[in-house]
Amino acid sequence: MASEHEPLIANKAGVTRLVYEYRPPRPQSQSLVRRFCTIALGSTLIWIVLTFVVSMLSDDLTTSQHDRPHGKSKINHDQLKQILLDTPSSQKAEEWSRYYTAGPHLAGKNLSQAVWTKDKWESWGINSLINTYDVYINYPVDHRLALLQRQDGDEDGKEAWEVTYEASLTEDVLEEDPTSGLEDGVPTFHGYSASGNVTAPVVYVNYGTYQDFEDLLGANITLKGKIAIARYGGIFRGLKVKRAQELGMIGVILYSDPGDDGDVTDEKGVAAYPEGPARQPSSVQRGSTQFLSVAPGDPTTPGYPSKPGVPRQPVHTAIPSIPSIPISYTDALPILKALNGHGPKAEDFNQWWTRSTGLQYKGVHYNIGPTPDDVVVNLYNEQDYVTTPLWNVIGIINGTIPDEVIVVGNHRDAWVAGGAGDPNSGSAVFNEVIRSFGQALELGWKPLRTIVLASWDGEEYGLVGSTEWVEEYLPWLSNANVAYVNTDVGVRGKRLSCSAAPLLHDLIYSATAAVASPNQTTEGQSVYDVWDKRISTMGSGSDFTAFQDFAGIPSVDIGFNSDRESAVYHYHSNYDSFHWMEKYGDPGFVYHRTMAQVLGLIVAQLSDLPVIPFGAEDYTNALGEYVNKVEDKLDAALSPQTILSAMEIDNEAMFDMRASHRNTSTLSTNSHSDKHPPAAALKFKTSLKRLHKALQDLKEQAVELDTRASDLSRTVKEHIPWWKWLTKLKLYRQIRKVNTKYKFLERSFLYEEGLDGRSWFKHVVFAPGLWTGYSGAVFPGLVESIDSEDWTNAQRWVDIIESRIYNAARKLE
Ligand SMILES: *[C@@H]1O[C@H](CO)[C@@H](O)[C@H](O)[C@H]1NC(C)=O
Ligand SMILES: *[C@@H]1O[C@H](CO)[C@@H](O)[C@H](O)[C@H]1NC(C)=O
Ligand SMILES: *[C@@H]1O[C@H](CO)[C@@H](O)[C@H](O)[C@H]1NC(C)=O
Ligand SMILES: *[C@@H]1O[C@H](CO)[C@@H](O)[C@H](O)[C@H]1NC(C)=O
Ligand SMILES: *[C@@H]1O[C@H](CO)[C@@H](O)[C@H](O)[C@H]1NC(C)=O
Ligand SMILES: *[C@@H]1O[C@H](CO)[C@@H](O)[C@H](O)[C@H]1NC(C)=O
Ligand SMILES: [Zn+2]
Repeated sequence: MASEHEPLIANKAGVTRLVYEYRPPRPQSQSLVRRFCTIALGSTLIWIVLTFVVSMLSDDLTTSQHDRPHGKSKINHDQLKQILLDTPSSQKAEEWSRYYTAGPHLAGKNLSQAVWTKDKWESWGINSLINTYDVYINYPVDHRLALLQRQDGDEDGKEAWEVTYEASLTEDVLEEDPTSGLEDGVPTFHGYSASGNVTAPVVYVNYGTYQDFEDLLGANITLKGKIAIARYGGIFRGLKVKRAQELGMIGVILYSDPGDDGDVTDEKGVAAYPEGPARQPSSVQRGSTQFLSVAPGDPTTPGYPSKPGVPRQPVHTAIPSIPSIPISYTDALPILKALNGHGPKAEDFNQWWTRSTGLQYKGVHYNIGPTPDDVVVNLYNEQDYVTTPLWNVIGIINGTIPDEVIVVGNHRDAWVAGGAGDPNSGSAVFNEVIRSFGQALELGWKPLRTIVLASWDGEEYGLVGSTEWVEEYLPWLSNANVAYVNTDVGVRGKRLSCSAAPLLHDLIYSATAAVASPNQTTEGQSVYDVWDKRISTMGSGSDFTAFQDFAGIPSVDIGFNSDRESAVYHYHSNYDSFHWMEKYGDPGFVYHRTMAQVLGLIVAQLSDLPVIPFGAEDYTNALGEYVNKVEDKLDAALSPQTILSAMEIDNEAMFDMRASHRNTSTLSTNSHSDKHPPAAALKFKTSLKRLHKALQDLKEQAVELDTRASDLSRTVKEHIPWWKWLTKLKLYRQIRKVNTKYKFLERSFLYEEGLDGRSWFKHVVFAPGLWTGYSGAVFPGLVESIDSEDWTNAQRWVDIIESRIYNAARKLE
């Protein structure tokens, strides 16, 4: 309902604005005396009013944050930080985790969790509302996966098929883990998968990356009309289905190969969950098969909010038309074994096919197939597609500055009844952050910037709740939103993992440096000290996408991730449960508490410091590195021999490259047999230098802005007596000016027409990789043009990016 949103858009000009817009009345055709009197009286009045207004209001921004409280706030920044460090509790986080994981909360299926969340926030003093969209999603009805073998024809010549394996498609009920035995648990299925009933021979397609499929085509493996079995991992699952569909395959089976679990495997003698930390053999990864890199959100309403009654678009470019099904490795074994002896083996391909095959010890040879025509798989998938409400919970803490807003979010919906890691470790953490801010409010804190808190619904299907919300409030967000802070899986291990816009890097470092690490062996060290300090670029896969890539709002996504030594995280499985979290993920919920402290401090810095703590120079430096990356990629494409030696890239980066790009050596050898790069490519290479030049210009402005900002931060810490109101006013206006520049810097990199073939994505610097989905591509327009060897288009993107850089530089002046 529209009225629910009013507090959000009622962005009234606050009184502070009056100071800004006030102009003394212009005297017209008056006598000199009258004019003098008017001016004198006017001036006195203005003086009195200004002194009053300024000392009351500009106080917010211009009073020292550290030695005494500002303006309307009764507590200062240091006190706020202390509250945010002291309040979060492991016991409370555990309590919230227990609540959220008690029952199913699939998108649009659990209104009571939304209401509970809203009530909790309100009990902590946060004004909250439930925000509803009508979205197109699917719920599972029925499924079947069976392996069939043809028998010798019976007397009437009719084909007879014997079922040699009937997949269970369920996860075992474990006595130790009550969540696994819930009557109303969520079946195994794929979000946005197509209904269908197909029967065909099967082909093993490795991870199902773009390059894996290229390798298969290169080896003359018949894909058309076949069913793919792909292992999970590497890229977003929906893109595996997308490529299979494009190549004429008729169904996809996705399974979890324990080879990707590092050393924590049954094969290496580690006990499986619940006895030990290795993967439960029956565990199944549910998940969305939306074509995430093309557009997230409700596939029927790209670019606009899914309000009741809005027009709906066809969905074929956004979600699959062939059926797919997720299975466990237990269910995959008979199918993989049926491939034994058919077609080439994985080891006949390159190292990307054998690097983590984990089922040889169970008798799998990893043959590619296809299986002969008399050995087929029947894949039946029935989904109920509906347009149904989903519920975001939105909380608001009003700040004193009317047009500077921080949004903080976490999704609430899960694929399973539990979801103790994804997403409800984040939800538990988020609640602790909100409870802490509630404490501060009670003690008289008032933030400078408005804080909007969001518990998103429908993230799992394709970032639906957050995307629709951003699409609805785009004009307001474009004007006011300074930053978006996301936590999805708050905790699933002990390794801090973060992706963020470069503008935010510095404040993430300083927030983590102020929080003690819970690691017992590193007493006295901060989260920052024990962190590898790597911040990756924004890709997709969580709710920051619409903010960063569509609205141009600098975003951060942060959480404690697992590493190779951690217990295997049962992603999107029934075993991502409270029991798993308590026993393996975060015993004692200590990392939950730490995460709440980190998140709280990030939000505190963004909302409570007079000068927005952004790093414009960091942004320009990062842009320079991204241009270097594009140049490396181009060099590799033009002279394939140098690719591996010239580029210092680790395994993961190489994997991404393989997944997202065409095999660069095939690229240049196939298309121009003469080895000489085409002139257009060389011209493009030269024009990339223009970007470096433009960046030099931007860097000058950025350094100046950062310097001015740190000067102002210093000045604002000095005490200015109330009667020096003119100094205060000046300082106030200078800070507002700097903050406005910071606020709009990221927005400069939006391009209204959007990326090629996926116009929903507006950011010229950041987007999910076209063929990776989760991981980020930088300068996607350039990178994709190189992949498709479209040098004219590459040139076009240089122009677009160059003009954006100069534009940004002019705005910073
Ligand atoms: C926050 O500000 C909005 C807009 O000015 C106003 O409508 C709303 O009532 C305020 N909320 C609180 C809790 O003060
Ligand atoms: C909604 O979530 C609550 C809390 O997790 C749970 O107890 C309840 O069973 C769920 N309701 C439905 C209808 O699934
Ligand atoms: C799927 O199709 C096959 C024929 O190809 C048919 O025998 C079977 O009954 C169908 N399954 C379902 C569940 O409709
Ligand atoms: C694939 O088939 C084509 C055409 O039939 C043939 O020229 C080529 O040698 C085959 N390649 C492989 C790897 O078998
Ligand atoms: C604690 O930190 C040390 C040093 O960084 C590291 O070697 C160790 O694995 C960590 N322990 C845990 C439980 O995270
Ligand atoms: C690219 O393809 C060529 C020829 O098919 C192959 O030799 C090379 O290993 C591939 N490169 C990568 C990185 O996969
Ligand atoms: Zn999630």
